[in-house]
Amino acid sequence: MPKTTLALLIALFVAAPAAFAADDAGALITRPAGYKPIAGDARLGEKLFNDVKLSTNGMSCATCHANHGAFQASFAKPYPHTVAMAKEQFGRKTVYLDEMIQGCMVMPMAAKPLAWDSKELAGLVAYLQVQQKSFKPSH
Ligand code: HEC
Repeated sequence: MPKTTLALLIALFVAAPAAFAADDAGALITRPAGYKPIAGDARLGEKLFNDVKLSTNGMSCATCHANHGAFQASFAKPYPHTVAMAKEQFGRKTVYLDEMIQGCMVMPMAAKPLAWDSKELAGLVAYLQVQQKSFKPSH
């Protein structure tokens, strides 16, 4: 997608009256007590990454993040780390990768968080870990 369209999309959802800006917004994306991540299948993750059915608004993760789009320099750092969006929209100082995926499910994708123990979330984590390896902050 052209950079200007992407910038517009992002501006739209960042500026939108935050439907989830309630005090408990952070809870939606916070790992449940005793959470143990399961191993995921990156191939399933890649399919889901490109699947618009994950959202309620016709977007897929790839709409914004194809070719490392919309990732800031923070994406290069090991998790947990600070992500501007998680801080502003969810009041979270630092996030794990799975929590950030849930954040994008709730905000830009306008959907419910994935089940924490699902192979879908684990698959997306595995695929994003692959993406992270080839990510260069200057991109
Ligand atoms: C409308 C555009 C959009 C869509 C769709 C979207 N994201 Fe994001 N995503 C963003 C923006 C903007 C950020 C925040 C960048 C920042 O604040 O540094 C972000 C941040 C992230 C990060 C954190 C990067 C870091 O710095 O650690 C991950 C991981 C991520 N998204 C994954 C996903 C996944 C997986 C999906 C699909 C379920 C998705 N995103 C859907 C726009 C989007």
